[in-house]
Order: sequence, then C-alpha cells, then structure tokens
Amino acid sequence: MSEIKLKINGEEVTAEPGTMLLDAARKAGAEIPTLCNLEGLEPFGACRLCVVELIRGGRSRIVASCLYPVEEGIDVLTESEKVVRYRRNILELLEARWPLIDKALLEKYKVNTGRMARRDNFCIMCGICVRHCSERRKLNVLGFVGRGIERQVVSYTMRAKEFCPECFDKELSCLKFCPTGVIVNDCATRCPASRDEEAFAKPIRVRDDDNAIAVKKSLGDL
Ligand code: FES
Repeated sequence: MSEIKLKINGEEVTAEPGTMLLDAARKAGAEIPTLCNLEGLEPFGACRLCVVELIRGGRSRIVASCLYPVEEGIDVLTESEKVVRYRRNILELLEARWPLIDKALLEKYKVNTGRMARRDNFCIMCGICVRHCSERRKLNVLGFVGRGIERQVVSYTMRAKEFCPECFDKELSCLKFCPTGVIVNDCATRCPASRDEEAFAKPIRVRDDDNAIAVKKSLGDL
C-alpha cells in the first residue's frame, strides 16, 4: 500500500498506513509527552497527555496521537496553543494525585500546581497494571469496573489468589510498572480480594491508613 502524506508542524512527511500520529510525529522530531503508552502494550488512550491538534479541511480538533492513525492530507500540530492548554490541564489533574510527577514537564507547560485539591487515592487510571497483567503476563488478574468517576481497578479473587503470590515481588510484577506507586507492596498477599472468599472481584489494595507507610516506601523507590 502506498505511503500516506501529511504535514507535521508544517513539514511534509510520509508514513506507512496504520502508523499512529505519535510515532509519525516523533519520527519527524516532535517531542510529545506520554504516560499510558508503553512499549509492548496496546495503545489505550487513558492519559491524554499525547494530544495533538489535527486540522482537516480548515476544521481543527484535538486527538490522542497514540490512538489516531495517520491520514492523507491532514495537518498535525504538536505544540499549538490549544495543545499546550489541553496538556496543562491534564498535568494539573495528574499532579494532584501523583506527587512524583516529572517536575520538568510541569515547568515546561507552566502548570499551576496546588490549584486542584490533593487526592488520597493516587490511582490515575492509566490502566498500565491492568494491561500489563493481561497483555504481557497473560494472567488476567486485574480489570476495570464502573464508569466515569466510579471507575476503579479491581482484582478477580480466584485469579489473584492463584497468581499474585507467585508474581508480586518479581521483576515483571504490576507493582513495578505503576507510575504513582498506588499499588502497595503487600497488595498481592493482603489485598481485599485475597481476604474475601465470597467476592468475585474487589478493588485492589491501595493507599489507606493501614498501608500509608508501605506506599511512601514504594514512592521513594520509583
Ligand atoms: S499516551 Fe496517548 S493517551 Fe496516554
């Protein structure tokens, strides 16, 4: 199939059909921050940090570049005013839940820190743990339930009991890939799913009064 022609930040480029805008833009030298897009995991579109402005026929819109494939004749802007404003808002929300977020990124986008109320639950719904467990480890212990602000990560009781004790302290454990350290070190052995025989699925064990110290330790380890 013939290559697709598009413009990235005013430069004409070509890309294989099916290439995501993120990859095409990075190949063209653009710097685009990402959080939930990790090598070896399917694109998920959760964090929205990778947004770019897409212009077609004079109309512009913001899209997640990790999920949007190249198209013939489009113009893509990776640092337009709209994009910068959008990313700044995302970073502001993330910062309220993620004390160790990359400070250089906050500075670059002039993020107004401290405006959003701090949250005790550091889960930023990036889905890395869920996808890592299913796509890389093929264990399917973790999943999502709920929608919108009710959405949360759960572990499935029977599978957690079977697989987590063998996995949690290993190099390929989901704990190692959680960017905020919200999954505590003893999640696998003391998570609610492991304790409650009846429940099909329970929220993963995250920060609370009992395990605040464990979380601080894991945050320091990141
Ligand atoms: S990197 Fe694209 S949405 Fe997270």
